[in-house]
Amino acid sequence: MKRKLIVANWKMNPDTSLEALHLWEEIGKASSALKKTSVVVCPPAIYVGLVAGQGGQALLGAQNCSASSEGARTGEVSASMLANAGVAYVIVGHSERRAMGETNNDVSEKVAAVLRADMVPLVCVGERVRDPDGFYLKETTTQLEEGLAKVSKKNLSKIVIAYEPVWAIGKNGAGPASVTDVLEMVLYIRRALIRIFGKEAAKVPVLYGGSVEVKNAAEFMEHAGIDGLLVGRESLNTKAFPELLRIVDHL
Ligand code: PGA
Repeated sequence: MKRKLIVANWKMNPDTSLEALHLWEEIGKASSALKKTSVVVCPPAIYVGLVAGQGGQALLGAQNCSASSEGARTGEVSASMLANAGVAYVIVGHSERRAMGETNNDVSEKVAAVLRADMVPLVCVGERVRDPDGFYLKETTTQLEEGLAKVSKKNLSKIVIAYEPVWAIGKNGAGPASVTDVLEMVLYIRRALIRIFGKEAAKVPVLYGGSVEVKNAAEFMEHAGIDGLLVGRESLNTKAFPELLRIVDHL
């Protein structure tokens, strides 16, 4: 059986190193007790060096990286800097970054940079709205086709896709997608990947993200055809997130 994958996206939280360390330790402790689930924690870049090597079984992720490997790029962090600091996974193309102007082409360059540095890109795709004409299907396919343009067949085993409908994300969103909506899109994404890369793409893990909480995690894991979850807000809760991990591991 494929190992389940739960990714914690802390976004621009917490405010202090002390809180970041505490959160990392609590998640690390909970992760050590899991048998069938891997946990990746993506703190803001400033805490990466702080939590790396601080124990526990959680793997270290990042929320973004530069598409360039070197040069004059004020404010940017390169993929190799992250890899050298102990990062194994990098979220690429999160909708909050796309909203700041990141294009599918930028996503594709970043995916390539992450793979070159021997890390796993967690590539986020998902529609902004569910329009009645079904344009949302095309929007997501284009994100896959263009965002994965630099991925070769041999790198297929090193990528993860996260389906995150933008409308379901965050406290101002419409709440989580329904399990049926997610299942439908995940099957659609899997079919698109097979069309692009051939049947080996069937093994690419697909996660769901968007208002995942303790109370709905099991339902998504059991009925949405996914391999794991990408969790935002709930991953900042030192009680709820470890509980979510235990629930998912026991399924
Ligand atoms: P949320 O965020 O769980 O707070 O909705 C998910 C994400 O944006 O990755």
